[in-house]
Amino acid sequence: MTDPPVIAERKGQVALARLNRPETRNALAPEVMERLAALVEDWDADTEVRCIVIAGSDDYFAAGADIRMATENASAGEFFEQAARFWTRMATCRTPLVAAVSGYALGGGCELAVLCDMVVASETAELGQPEILLGIIPGGGATQRITRVVGRPRAMELILTGRRIDAQEALRLGLVNQLAPKRKWLSSALELAQVVASRPPIAVGLAKRAVLAAEDTGLEAGLAEERRLYELAMSTEERVEGMQAFLEQRRPDFKGR
Ligand code: COA
Repeated sequence: MTDPPVIAERKGQVALARLNRPETRNALAPEVMERLAALVEDWDADTEVRCIVIAGSDDYFAAGADIRMATENASAGEFFEQAARFWTRMATCRTPLVAAVSGYALGGGCELAVLCDMVVASETAELGQPEILLGIIPGGGATQRITRVVGRPRAMELILTGRRIDAQEALRLGLVNQLAPKRKWLSSALELAQVVASRPPIAVGLAKRAVLAAEDTGLEAGLAEERRLYELAMSTEERVEGMQAFLEQRRPDFKGR
């Protein structure tokens, strides 16, 4: 039996997806994209899953699009369409996503990390968008998402030069939330995910939508969207429980209603 392209694990209310194609440095081949997107969709539909962590191995998160697949004429068209669907499927996940990055996160690997809501990186991580060196441009959202995170001049430099950056620089640029020592990158990411998973799930989902709205809308429309989602949050049992527990000085018991 061949190894699964992505290994799924559950750790309480946190789900972990580990890319598992060492022979191509976890390049995003069709079977990797399909399995990862399907797992994320299943977990997103499961109310027991409160946060999802996406990880690779110690030495590579993902080396980008599968260059071999992208150059094989017979399958290239289908590959590009599948890749486009993959990015949309990942971006529509309502459950918080944490990327746990160790080693190389290049091209689509870097785009996958940046698509996630938070990124925990090992001190060994190296990120970059090397597509320009192959005569192409990023196609998984980097020109938009990286620009929103780091600003235009820095995004231009990364994308036009294809330069790789180390974990410290990624942290400085805001592409990464926190750095972890070499052997602690995954446990640190899982810890962050556990904290998010312990928060009231409806409020977490609404908050994720509200923050993402900042990327899609002007300030006025974004504030209107926040107001709408805030009113929704105010109407939940979670809100009653959270506030009551505070007043009664006890731990809240959030039921996701
Ligand atoms: N697509 C397909 N195969 C890839 C790949 C990719 N994106 N990245 C690496 N591989 C394959 C190599 O072809 C090689 O296969 P082989 O053993 O059959 O020769 C194997 O993975 C190991 O790659 P190698 O370059 O020898 O490993 P390394 O540890 O020295 O370097 C990287 C790792 C990630 C720095 C290097 O492989 C790399 O630069 N990859 C391409 C990154 C890229 O340009 N991504 C954007 C794609 S649009």
